This record gives sequence, structure tokens and C-alpha cells, in this order.
Amino acid sequence: MEQQIKSKQRVADHGEVFTAEREVNAMLDMVKQETERIDSRFLEPACGEGAFLAEVLRRKLAVVKQKYGRNPSDYELYALIAVTSIYGVDIMEDNTENCRKRLFKIWNKEYTAVMKKEANDRCREVVKFIFKKNILCGDALKMEQQDGTPILFAEWSQVSGSLIKRRDFELNELLKGHERQMDMDMLLGGWEYDEEIDAYIPAPIKEYPPTDYRRLDDYE
Ligand SMILES: C[S@@+](CC[C@H](N)C(=O)[O-])C[C@H]1O[C@@H](n2cnc3c(N)ncnc32)[C@H](O)[C@@H]1O
Repeated sequence: MEQQIKSKQRVADHGEVFTAEREVNAMLDMVKQETERIDSRFLEPACGEGAFLAEVLRRKLAVVKQKYGRNPSDYELYALIAVTSIYGVDIMEDNTENCRKRLFKIWNKEYTAVMKKEANDRCREVVKFIFKKNILCGDALKMEQQDGTPILFAEWSQVSGSLIKRRDFELNELLKGHERQMDMDMLLGGWEYDEEIDAYIPAPIKEYPPTDYRRLDDYE
């Protein structure tokens, strides 16, 4: 059984008690369909070592295997798209680092088992890069990173084939989109209505050109 507590001090300081696998699975089963959609986005806002994200990744990769396991190039692309949809924030640096490592290990092990060989270095580097961008150390209540700057998340979306587009957003702005109605400030600021999530989304802080998934780490 995995360890749920690292120290009494951490429990007192940060409420750090990790969720056991059984509870994780029971909770994820309540949104089962979403956990099995390769590109559905999940954010664990106090992710610890990624108890929920790890299971979401496993479930998504099982679907990638079932759909694309017999086609190596599709398998690689969609196994990477599964990674792009997983986000986390934790206030403790060691937790975010362990979370990234844990997720990468799951991805690498599953890829190796399905493809019967390890992914090439380029692909593994890009997967690590995406986890670095998506799993951040910061305060999820203040929505700030350790240095006091706003938490920025990259949205990765498949444009066509192997091309992925990245847009960076401020988390606090993104979350406002569910509460707000369009006003003049939003209109002038470039906010748009997104039908899929039934909310307004702000203009991105930065947009990148569509890029082959193997080169996503060209842009820091
Ligand atoms: C109860 S644990 C849950 C961890 C994980 N979600 C799980 O289920 O295993 C709470 C986590 O929140 C983190 N935390 C506490 N305050 C936070 C804050 N303001 N912003 C981000 N993370 C925070 C702690 O470091 C700890 O890892």
C-alpha cells in the first residue's frame, strides 16, 4: 500500500495526506467517460504527487493502446496528446518534482510495453517538457507561482495530424470565464465564447505556431 503521509509536520503545515488508490478510482469512476477521452483536460489543483493524475493518465493510455496500439506512429502521437491534457499545481516543490517523475514513469513504462521498445530520446524529451509545463509549483489559492507571478498554463491542441498548437493562459483569468457574462472590457480584451466548455475564454498571453509534436520543446 502506498504511503499517505510523509510527516506530521507536513500534515499540519499543508494538509498533506495523499489519497489512496481505491478512493481515487471510486472518484474517477464518477466521471468515467471523461477519464477515458484521450484529450479531456484534467487539473488537480493541489496535486501532491499526482494520485489522481496518475490514474487519469493510465486510463487514457489504455484507450490509446486499444485504438492505436497496432500503429506505432499513431500510438506515439496519441500517447503524447494524452500527456498534454494533464495538469497539476502543488505548493511543495518536492511534490511537483515527484509528480512529474511519477507520470513520466507511467508513460514510459506503458509505451515500452505496448510498442515492445522504449520511445526514442526526442519523444521522451518532449514528454518530460510537457510535464514540466503542465505540473507547476505554486499556490493554487492565490493562483501564483513561487516567485509571485501568475500561474500560466499551456493549452495544447491538435491542429491536424502531428501538428500541435500551444497557447498560454493565466489560470486566474481562465477560471473567471465560467462566472462572467460578456462585457465591453472582455470584448476589447479579446475574450471569446467556447461552446464546448460553455464558458468565455480570455485571450491567450502568448500563441505559438503549429509545431510537430516532436519539436514542441523548441519553444520554452
Ligand atoms: C490532501 S493533500 C492531496 C494531494 C493529492 N491531491 C492526493 O489526493 O493525493 C493536499 C496537497 O495540497 C498541497 N497544498 C496545500 N496548500 C496548497 C496551496 N495553497 N496551493 C497548492 N497546493 C497546496 C499540499 O502540499 C498537499 O500536497
